[in-house]
Amino acid sequence: MVKFDFETYQNIEINDYNLDKVLDVFLDDNKLAGWYQLDNSNLDDITSTANYIKDNCDVFLVIGIGGSYLGPQAIIEALSPYFKQNNPEIIFCGNNLSSDYLDDLIKYIKDKDIMINIISKSGTTLEPVISFEYLLDYMEDKYGKGNFNRRVIVTTDSKNSPLMAMAEANHYKSFVIPTNIGGRFSVLTPAGLLPMAVADIDIEKLFDGANAAKCNLDDCYYYTVLRHLMYKKGKLIESFNVYEPKLYYFAEWIKQLFAESQGKQSKGLLPVSTVNTRDLHSIGQYYQDGPKILFETTLFNRSKEDIYISKYSKTLNQINHIAMQSVALAHQHAGVPTTVIELDQINENNLGYLIFFFEMSAMLGSYLLGVRYYDQPGVNAYKTIIQEKIKPML
Ligand code: PA5
Repeated sequence: MVKFDFETYQNIEINDYNLDKVLDVFLDDNKLAGWYQLDNSNLDDITSTANYIKDNCDVFLVIGIGGSYLGPQAIIEALSPYFKQNNPEIIFCGNNLSSDYLDDLIKYIKDKDIMINIISKSGTTLEPVISFEYLLDYMEDKYGKGNFNRRVIVTTDSKNSPLMAMAEANHYKSFVIPTNIGGRFSVLTPAGLLPMAVADIDIEKLFDGANAAKCNLDDCYYYTVLRHLMYKKGKLIESFNVYEPKLYYFAEWIKQLFAESQGKQSKGLLPVSTVNTRDLHSIGQYYQDGPKILFETTLFNRSKEDIYISKYSKTLNQINHIAMQSVALAHQHAGVPTTVIELDQINENNLGYLIFFFEMSAMLGSYLLGVRYYDQPGVNAYKTIIQEKIKPML
């Protein structure tokens, strides 16, 4: 169950914004709202491929950057126990250009059987492509030329991606990221679902949660209007706070979703995040006493296990909850309002719900701002320059 508390905001009139009508406009006209369909028709193929991966490697390497890795990393971390490695171990790579990272990775996997999944919608992004090509060479040495094609899985767009042509030529298993679903909206496509299925996440339940959010848009409309009004009032930053460290990557996913969807034409809120209570002892000072340019959206969950702390006659969940409420109150007194989103537990249903909720808000909020939610010209700007600089080296 996901519960929204908008108590610190009064008198927000969402009917003025007609978001129902805005949604119709998007669904009629927009070629890139494929994620809204919540198509789960390929779950059998994903599950059987995941089973093959589980049976055939010690380490599963997931290569991708931005929207092509944050979703699965967020969900896998959120739903895995602390201090327990998945079997096979799942390692995300291709999201940096660190030589040390790749070198240490090669050393780490030396005596282990590996399979790799490159996820790239365009099939041309430098970081994943470099790691992919390097790992293909490594696999050729390790397994012998022509002996490792069943160890490679490609997840990409079916049109215009050089990776799809490569998969066909080399008989790699491939999955399609539909052309009408942008990278950061692809978490519920094979881009996110295959790594999650390898981590034994119940992907059908993610869809159940997402469908529940789709049937209940009122809170999403409220939240969308609220953040728009905050922006219009001069707030420039929205901080997404979590009180469970394993939600760190979920906050990273939200940040990417909003930043790339709305940070355009010199408009948009800057999304940042904190992991509390840790960050109350650092950046919390700024939130309380710095310029009043931010507001907060807090995700609070009850932990599965609850530990009784006899000194305080309270459970740790209760103390964490008191901390969250105290922070919200202290910040509110200082002019920093908070929305609290409470999860009765971290599970597939609730995370699926939030995925759809935030995707929907990113789309509708972009309409209120007057920007296109589905492109990322700012990211492409650097990609184009780097490609130009790299080309003569090829
Ligand atoms: O969300 C997005 O669209 C981007 O963050 C992309 O996912 C990121 O740039 C990676 O692109 P690609 O999947 O084409 O390699």
